[in-house]
Amino acid sequence: MNFLVTAGPTREWIDPIRFITNRSSGKMGYALARAARARRHEVVLVSGPVTLPAPTGVDFVPIVTAADLLAALESRVAACDALIMAAAPADWRPRDISPRKLKKCAMSMTLDLVPVPDILVRLAGRKGSRVFVGFAAEDRDLEAEARRKLVEKHLDLIVANDVGRPDSGFESDANQVVLLDAAGNTEALPLLSKDEVAARVVAWVEARAH
Ligand code: CTP
Repeated sequence: MNFLVTAGPTREWIDPIRFITNRSSGKMGYALARAARARRHEVVLVSGPVTLPAPTGVDFVPIVTAADLLAALESRVAACDALIMAAAPADWRPRDISPRKLKKCAMSMTLDLVPVPDILVRLAGRKGSRVFVGFAAEDRDLEAEARRKLVEKHLDLIVANDVGRPDSGFESDANQVVLLDAAGNTEALPLLSKDEVAARVVAWVEARAH
């Protein structure tokens, strides 16, 4: 199969040296890319700025902004069988980007923001028979919020992540997730390594695609 995997945060520029971003190490997305590759799938990894080495054997596409991410996916989604959106794109960007460093004495104390389009919603019309997997980062109402996102983003599977737990999620090598699918099934996995979570998600996609 052809897997299109996204990972890491995006950066939304204020000026050439300042940006707003999301907390994301990229570890889950990179684990997914490695897991799909280990199963001998073709993998394109579209990654925001992280400190991890690009996995061997994958087609690596670095991006910076959410607009870059959307463009990278729009040109590649047709060729994939499965899209796994583990990236954490920003939800807002500054309305204006200053081409030169803003002097702090000239900076306003409020930042004028505009929403970033939801990338999964933007790609939904191109889904066809492809398998689309999203993530949900929640610190409350985990399953209800994840199921809402599953429906709104037209996903086959959503991997719900309790980001309120100190022992899983951000920057960690372990993750405790709940898998919710469009058929209404809910499976709470135990605390596992991100590599093991990734292997389970790839196995789910393989089973769904057959
Ligand atoms: N996502 C996306 N485009 C965005 C933001 C998020 O496609 N602009 C994707 C993420 O990659 C993830 C899923 O949507 O697969 C859910 O992301 P999450 O941050 O949990 O949810 P949001 O839709 O941003 O909602 P909220 O911030 O209100 O929880």
